Amino acid sequence: MTSTLNIAVLASGKGSNLKAIIDPVRAGTIRQARVSLVISNNSDAGALQIARANGIPSLHLSRQQFESDEAFNKALLSALTRHGINFIALAGYLKKIHPSIIQAYRNRIINVHPALLPSFGGPGMYGKFVHEAVIKSRAATSGATVHIVDDQYDHGAIILQKSLPVAPDDTPETLAAKVSAIEHQIYPEAIRLFAEGRVKIGEQHVEIESHA
Ligand code: GRF
Repeated sequence: MTSTLNIAVLASGKGSNLKAIIDPVRAGTIRQARVSLVISNNSDAGALQIARANGIPSLHLSRQQFESDEAFNKALLSALTRHGINFIALAGYLKKIHPSIIQAYRNRIINVHPALLPSFGGPGMYGKFVHEAVIKSRAATSGATVHIVDDQYDHGAIILQKSLPVAPDDTPETLAAKVSAIEHQIYPEAIRLFAEGRVKIGEQHVEIESHA
């Protein structure tokens, strides 16, 4: 018996991954899940507009609105608690999550990264910088990764990955578009696996249970 995922999506940008999660939840292809809150540090984020358009409570919460890191993190945690959030999906959220929140939501925070981790991750590896680095390295493949968020950038246990070939004439822009399409497949898929209670996270590895 699994309880419904009450998801908060944290996003800083345009929100295409947020949309990729909302659509199957609304369509009922992901059951036992609800997007209950969208939070952005950026008041202009497309993600906030997508939330409003879908009638999902949304909040602009940024560090600048608070006197200290502590006050900001407290406000973030209290918003999550107030909305009954039990699962967090980072979707292009460019701020590091404070350890107090990671602790409160241990193994319940996931992120999508536009490369095949552990390669091309870590500080500074976001947006076009990732795709530029992949092309510069002449890697034959790239892809996307969904992983658990821990206290280091792009580091936690990997839940799902999907790869694609890097074409010789790919530019950071063309590669970004192809990777984005893959993210929109594997991010909702990972959420479905969590919603169905099929992700078992052990000390050393992650196990995805097949259907009973
Ligand atoms: C995605 O490429 C994701 O991998 C990264 O940030 C981007 C967010 O894009 N973490 P969007 O705002 O979901 O369109």
